[in-house]
Amino acid sequence: MATITNHMPTSELQALDAAHHMHPFTHGVGLGAKGARVITRADGVWLTDSDGHRILDGMAGLWCVNIGYGRKELAQVAARQMEELPFYNTFFQTTHVPAIALSQKLAELAPEGFNQVFFAGSGSEANDTNLRMVRTYWAEKGQPDRNIVISRWNAYHGSSVGSGSLGGMKGMHMQGGLPIPNIHHIDQPNWWAEGGDMTPEEFGLERARQLEAAIEELGPDRVAAFIAEPVQGAGGVIVPPETYWPEIQRIVDKYGILLIADEVICGFGRTGN
Ligand SMILES: Cc1ncc(COP(=O)(O)O)c(C=O)c1O
Repeated sequence: MATITNHMPTSELQALDAAHHMHPFTHGVGLGAKGARVITRADGVWLTDSDGHRILDGMAGLWCVNIGYGRKELAQVAARQMEELPFYNTFFQTTHVPAIALSQKLAELAPEGFNQVFFAGSGSEANDTNLRMVRTYWAEKGQPDRNIVISRWNAYHGSSVGSGSLGGMKGMHMQGGLPIPNIHHIDQPNWWAEGGDMTPEEFGLERARQLEAAIEELGPDRVAAFIAEPVQGAGGVIVPPETYWPEIQRIVDKYGILLIADEVICGFGRTGN
């Protein structure tokens, strides 16, 4: 297959990268001194860098290449769609066949009751949308003051202002004056790091019940939603104790609070289901 990669020497690519390309979550000067690894090709689960090293892609890109690299059928269908209709919006009483077909397919694959799809370009954008959507939901129901979203310390929900506020990474909050108002954080269910003498089951219940305590403290009529990753990813790939989620479900049901399950990196087959 013909290559479209410009194969300048690695050192030249690294120098150009250091001169012009800002990397996320990265100290630019430090990276410039070390030189970034230049990825040039990928196939299946394997990456190749500009020096020809073969690397196992254990993180699936950024947790998102869950069907592997080099899927010819995807390249072909993307090329066909680019020729037929590369873009159109769905704002002004219009729609298009790919949006219809994909939303119908997702509704079919998702558990019962999940029938409607709103598309976003990234996880950060999706969570910003979630924030506005749950607040708008309660406002439309005549409860505009029900606008607090409870999240967890060490959660990661994205890097925009809204999603960074929903996240619980203190280092991110230090940048740009986050979190925005009416976001409240409780502790994470990380038994391995914070469980102390408790069994995982006891600890899972204790951490879930922090949600109930926070709702009581803030006022049940003020809490719009609880957002959490079913399995925390960026925070350390943390699987909560088995008692955690059933207790969370009991609490959100009791108070009628919306639950935002952020499956940006653990959904769509990535945990094996
Ligand atoms: C759970 C979770 N939510 C949201 C995001 C943000 O997604 P994106 O990087 O597409 O903005 C991530 C990114 O890794 C994530 O892990």
